[in-house]
Formats: sequence, structure tokens, C-alpha cells
Amino acid sequence: MTQQTIIERRQIEDRVAEMGKEISRDLEGHQVILLCVLKGAVFFATDLARAMTMDVALDFIQVSSYGSEMKSSGVVTLLKEPQMDVTGKSVVIVEDIIDSGMSMREVHRYVAGRGARVVKVATFLDKPDSRRVPFTADYVGFSIGSKFVIGYGLDYAERYRNLYEIRVVEES
Ligand code: IMP
Ligand code: MG
Repeated sequence: MTQQTIIERRQIEDRVAEMGKEISRDLEGHQVILLCVLKGAVFFATDLARAMTMDVALDFIQVSSYGSEMKSSGVVTLLKEPQMDVTGKSVVIVEDIIDSGMSMREVHRYVAGRGARVVKVATFLDKPDSRRVPFTADYVGFSIGSKFVIGYGLDYAERYRNLYEIRVVEES
């Protein structure tokens, strides 16, 4: 397997800081819940939370569609429900990457059906050319091509989440 860095640590830090400011500006005066999609978005969510200029609550949801494969199985299962009541709150769904769009479509539907005042989606990475269902995030860190990537929370069979940078992997 070969690996090639496509986004450096410094670029990630700068971009996440910008996103935190932008989201804070848009949601000024709101009670914000960052809803982190486990496990991949954990690194992004903790950095984004600290880049926000208002205080935010943190909650977690987990869905599964991948197993350990590089391609989506297309079936989205809810593995862990959020704990907080979102009624009247503004929920920012925090995701690591949007690929086929199936996971975000389901998570968005789930949250929107629970009485949140506002539901936004912030994804660290987006692969717009890989959609199998249409989905547009409100905030995108970086748009990338349809390559499989690791690092900054993204895994390949549970490995490499703790890399500071984003790398493309290719099986050799
Ligand atoms: P989607 O439902 O196809 O949009 O898939 C989204 C989920 O698949 C993400 O939350 C990731 O967990 C995983 N995923 C998609 N692309 C990649 C990738 O390039 N590397 C690692 N995980 C990925
Ligand atoms: Mg994920």
C-alpha cells in the first residue's frame, strides 16, 4: 500500500480555524450542539469546537455503512443515538467526509425529525464526484477527488486515524 500526503497539518489547522469562525458567525445567539459522527469526526469535532467563538454542547451519533472495505455497502445503520434533546437548539452535524452521501442523508433526516431549530452539516472533507444520492453540506473543509484517504480521524480498517495529515492510499 502506498501513501501520499495531500493535505498538510498546517493547512488543516488554518482551515478548521476559519470554519469555526464562519459557523460561529452564522449561528450567533443560537444554542449550538455539535453532533459528532463517530468515530471518524472526533478529531475534527474537538478542533472545531475550540475554534468556535461561542460555547457549544457536544453530542455523538454513530452510523455504520462501511465495514472495513474501501467502498460503501450502501446500507446505513444507526449504531448509537444522540443523548441530548435537540428541541429548539441549533445542531451542527460534524462529519469527517461525505462520499456517497448516504450516511449524511440518513443522519440529517434523523436529526431534522427531532425538532431542532436549525440543522447544519459541517464536513471536513467532501468527495462531490462520488455521490450516489444528492447531498450538499453547509460547510466543507476541503473538496477532494474520489480517492480513498486516511488521517485526521479517517481510517483504513481502523488504522491511521491519528495521523496529523491527510494521505491518499492506493493498494499496490
Ligand atoms: P458515505 O455514506 O458514502 O457518504 O460515507 C461516509 C462515511 O464513509 C464517512 O463518514 C467515512 O467514515 C467513510 N469514508 C468515506 N470515504 C472515506 C475515505 O476516503 N477514507 C476513510 N473513510 C471514508
Ligand atoms: Mg464516518
